[in-house]
Amino acid sequence: MEHHQKTVTVQELRSGMIIREIIELSFDYATLDPKTVQFLQSNFKGANAVVVKDAGRESVPIGEVRPFDHVEAITDIPSTLKIATVVPGLAASMEKRGFLAFKVSVPAGVKLEEAEAPQAPAVKLDKEAAKAQHVERVTEAKEFLDKMETASESRDEASNRVKDMLDQGRSGKFSTQAAESAVADLIQEGTTAAMKAVAGLKGSDQTYTHCVDMSVIFQEAYADILIRSGKEATEEVNRFNLIAGFMHDIGKSEVPKEILESTERFAPDSKEMLMLRNHTTYGAKIMSEMGMHKAQINVAHYHHVKKDTKLFTSYPEVSYDEVLPLTRLASVTDVYQALIGKRRYKRNWVPAKAVEYLLKLGDSEFDPRMLDHFVRSVGVYPVGTLLRLSTEELAFVVRIAPDDRSDRPVAVVVENAKGELLTSNQLIDLMIEEDISIKEIVDHYEHYNETENQSYEIFRSIKLG
Ligand SMILES: [Fe+2]
Ligand SMILES: [Fe+2]
Repeated sequence: MEHHQKTVTVQELRSGMIIREIIELSFDYATLDPKTVQFLQSNFKGANAVVVKDAGRESVPIGEVRPFDHVEAITDIPSTLKIATVVPGLAASMEKRGFLAFKVSVPAGVKLEEAEAPQAPAVKLDKEAAKAQHVERVTEAKEFLDKMETASESRDEASNRVKDMLDQGRSGKFSTQAAESAVADLIQEGTTAAMKAVAGLKGSDQTYTHCVDMSVIFQEAYADILIRSGKEATEEVNRFNLIAGFMHDIGKSEVPKEILESTERFAPDSKEMLMLRNHTTYGAKIMSEMGMHKAQINVAHYHHVKKDTKLFTSYPEVSYDEVLPLTRLASVTDVYQALIGKRRYKRNWVPAKAVEYLLKLGDSEFDPRMLDHFVRSVGVYPVGTLLRLSTEELAFVVRIAPDDRSDRPVAVVVENAKGELLTSNQLIDLMIEEDISIKEIVDHYEHYNETENQSYEIFRSIKLG
């Protein structure tokens, strides 16, 4: 029988097609978790996988794929496999599994059915359901707020460990021990989500804190991607990403402290700028010598590479193909943290403004898919954003909005329309309170006393009835 070959996206898969190759895999195939390895090996027996190795790509039998490998494609899929022939519902489960584009063959005479109907929009909640949801949101917010203080302490503690790690590096001794024990504490406390909020409320002017904030935001973003695609964010993966984040700027241990801590803005062609930019290459070298995983090394090496590699801000010189998806996500996170962290020569931004800016930089700097994933993870109005509502009240976001209604987060009112701080606070779920809208983002550093961390204190002391 004559077969007609074509390339299709997951949405274009139709019953009757036969999958020959998977040519686009979602981001989480960049560092495979053991369960995904098992899934690939039991469903694609006989196929080959294109795996990224230190020196380029290699095609290996699927049985040789190992956890934390970076799989770019699955080829030579035997047509006898159950998964090879598209049947109703397979496209949806393929998408859920992170398979995004395919080479298929269409047997002659097979009539391709139309795609399955998209899901209907969610039904509007009735009064009772809305009330139940409100109670749930309040409970959730209380639990979150309870973690703020520990989160703030963990952040300081972890910053000290990163500082130790860099100081040890200055004296020529590198070990992941400090990073590993800091990561173990964070995982045990389960405070990374709250640490994200602390980062946006307090800012920071230190390299160490930058590494800690960047790594928790990065790990959370990666975990969100996994969860969205119906997978589990295992402790092993979270640990791996936290360590990658902690160490992404480890090469700064080779940059003299005077340069690192200088308040000066160095000229693009200055010796100082060159030394600063070399932190990526130093970092990769240090981590290779330590025997770190190649994906973690890739993060340290290429987190400053922009999609448009010709930009001055892009370094080192390398093809964008060498930059792993994990690193592309790290790159968005790194810029975000640099914006929300305080620097002596510039003001820090509130998270919602930083998100606006990332979206503006968009496609020239970032992989658009990673940018999209990132913004979905932190939210257009991240937790800790101070909003002026249409009621003229000021409210802090405590839960980000759903993807399809990004202007409808859950917030807690901290100041009434007269500008008075409240001692007991009310939670407003904008998904339910349809009449209330967001008027503007308020810069909490300007509105409250920055040096006393007043915004953090107000947020932390929210009292929900
Ligand atoms: Fe960096
Ligand atoms: Fe960085």
